[in-house]
Amino acid sequence: EKGNYRHYMQKEIFEQPTVVAQTLSSYIRQADETVALPQIDFDLSKINRITIVACGTSYYAAMVAKYWFEQFARVPVDLDFASEFRYRNPVLEEGGLALFISQSGETADTLAALRHCKANGQTIGVVVNVPTSSMAREADLLLPTHAGPEIGVASTKAFTCQLAVLAALAAHLAVKKGKMDRAEEQEVVHHLLEAPAALNAALDHDEDIASMAHLIAPARDVLYLGRGPDFPLALEGALKLKEISYIHAEGYASGEMKHGPIALIDEEVPVIVLAPSGPLFEKTVSNMHEVRARGGQVVLISDREGLEEAGEGCIATIEMPKVHPLIAPLVYAVPVQLLAYHVACVKGTDVDQPRNLAKSVTVE
Ligand code: F6R
Repeated sequence: EKGNYRHYMQKEIFEQPTVVAQTLSSYIRQADETVALPQIDFDLSKINRITIVACGTSYYAAMVAKYWFEQFARVPVDLDFASEFRYRNPVLEEGGLALFISQSGETADTLAALRHCKANGQTIGVVVNVPTSSMAREADLLLPTHAGPEIGVASTKAFTCQLAVLAALAAHLAVKKGKMDRAEEQEVVHHLLEAPAALNAALDHDEDIASMAHLIAPARDVLYLGRGPDFPLALEGALKLKEISYIHAEGYASGEMKHGPIALIDEEVPVIVLAPSGPLFEKTVSNMHEVRARGGQVVLISDREGLEEAGEGCIATIEMPKVHPLIAPLVYAVPVQLLAYHVACVKGTDVDQPRNLAKSVTVE
């Protein structure tokens, strides 16, 4: 039931602190702050390559995870949309882990890709929200998200729970591969455990976002920019806006703007910049200045430190709590979800049942 909420999507956005905490609690041993995976009967330390396959929002979770697997575990990651992966004859070497990410566990292309990998000797890992789904049944390593039923067609809480599971998995793999010691693992766990409170702090800005939604609602096109692990969040922000408000939107890696898309910028185009303060901040801000110099209407999403440094001259800013870069992708999911949600409400579209879309895509 929707309770006090107007839409399932809104309710599911607000459930994130709780369901992310729930999900983390089944992957983290509180006593010694280490990662604990479900019982598995193969040796993770032998994994020398990871192939991640997913669609839509789940694919963007995979994109974020690639940074973590490579950074923590130093295991190379190949990544593809299920609908592309299936038809490109991918190289699947022995010792590979094929990881499938899906809310429903029934997406036809992802399921077919899973079966292809299984037939080609890969170990099958599945990050899935529906425990009774086909993908869950066919997994060697089943990693459930505990987001609870997701009813809004646009995926929200499943995404942040996927990120929580993937971060825990990346740390665990790093430990198994000897790339992370106990103290570093505890540090990762510590940051992950800060996510629920940080998600709550992000949700506190709901009203600010609602009141600036009218600035975005009249736009014909909107761009989203991000860098590093926050680049996939730019793609996710654009997808959310497209699917529920029907405004054309694109996400770009900030540094790619000058290679073409900056030609799109004029006074009519809002540009949403995701830039937590930290190692990538200065570079992203310099891309933002290039956009502003061409008349682009920038909305900066950052923490107080970032907004103080670069917020001036933006048409709006959204303040996030200051968080460790590891959990920034979870926390910055909230403002992009809320922005899409409130813009859709201004436009009066059907938030929970957008046109032309189904919750689970069981056709190829
Ligand atoms: C976007 C959205 C879709 C799904 C995609 C994959 O908001 O919900 O892009 O993420 O259809 O679905 P699952 O995760 O069920 O495989």
